[in-house]
Amino acid sequence: MVCATDLLLAIESSCDETGAAVIRRDLSVLSNVVASQNELHERFGGVVPEIASRAHVRCILPVIDEALRKANVKLDDLSAIAVVTQPGLVGSLLVGLTAAKTLALATSLPLVAVNHIEAHLYACRMQAGRDIFPAIGLVVSGGHTNLYDCHGPTEFEWLGATIDDAAGEAFDKVAQILGLPYPGGPAIEQAALNGDPKAFNFPRVFLKEERLEFSFSGLKTAVLYKANGIPGSREPVPELTPQRVADLAASFQAAALEVLVGKCRQALRMRDRTRLLVGGGVAANSAFRLRLEEMCRRQRSELFIAPREMCTDNAAMGAIAWELLAQGHVAPLDLDVTPGLVRKPKPSSTTARISGAITPTDAVS
Ligand code: KG4
Ligand code: ZN
Repeated sequence: MVCATDLLLAIESSCDETGAAVIRRDLSVLSNVVASQNELHERFGGVVPEIASRAHVRCILPVIDEALRKANVKLDDLSAIAVVTQPGLVGSLLVGLTAAKTLALATSLPLVAVNHIEAHLYACRMQAGRDIFPAIGLVVSGGHTNLYDCHGPTEFEWLGATIDDAAGEAFDKVAQILGLPYPGGPAIEQAALNGDPKAFNFPRVFLKEERLEFSFSGLKTAVLYKANGIPGSREPVPELTPQRVADLAASFQAAALEVLVGKCRQALRMRDRTRLLVGGGVAANSAFRLRLEEMCRRQRSELFIAPREMCTDNAAMGAIAWELLAQGHVAPLDLDVTPGLVRKPKPSSTTARISGAITPTDAVS
């Protein structure tokens, strides 16, 4: 028999996945339904915001219904409604928020606003099943490549980010250049299996510099020039054979991953941390996971990567709402979305209280 105060419904619609999940206070996931829009965006090689919002409108209620049905619960069984309100595409976020507000109003349940980036890293906490803070956190997705010093599950200190393309965006654009399908990450990973990662020596931007920033747009352009030739050049361009595509994919992936892993190593050292959390779509990449494991072994650090099914966007990682509820964060019904990323100020002395004492199991009853 499920206790009424033990369950929350989480809703995710920040980009191009419509998600709903039912999560127990002990962080066990009773259902996690995701409706992907990949097919709709494939021919554009990236997410088209207007198409994404319209698809969310079509999918949101069926997805919520299915999440409740799979978990075998009714709205009456829930104790809170959580929804991602930032960052993301404004139209997409609004669809999820409107659904969540309507449910909260109809049921008189508390509404909890979730930050999508923090939720990506919370997937690592869910997988671990124990406190994993403080730690360095890397969120590496289609929209973000951000490094944080995570003092607690909701207490993030900004360390740095990409100054141009996000890593996942670079995977998507390079896939498009090479004629591979969307989303590009899994397609590049697959093609790279048959390629030589040393065939092309692509740039590793900022790798040797002591700065916690990334840049992937030069790498993407370097692949473009190798694939299609340098504009205005009379040099003949070799045919883009399957082997050349595989070599370009493998060499691109090696360069991107080396920088991502290198910056994690730098952040661990600079902040004197011994735990690393990695979440977001690119963290599903097997070669990346292996390289991270190797680096952490050498650094004598613990690695916590989100499980593959919780790397790409999903609502289950909205379980972070239990932490927020424990801290008393209930949102008003006139809550709005915040499409851009808001950098929180450095955590103050409250940090110890949040990272140490409170666990989701102590959350509201
Ligand atoms: O976290 P996510 O689902 O959405 C955002 O918040 O952006 O991440 C999607 C991104 C896409 O750019 C996709 O190409 C990338 O994650 N991705 C991967 C892999 N699977 C997804 N990148 C590299 N290797 C993968 N296996
Ligand atoms: Zn995401």
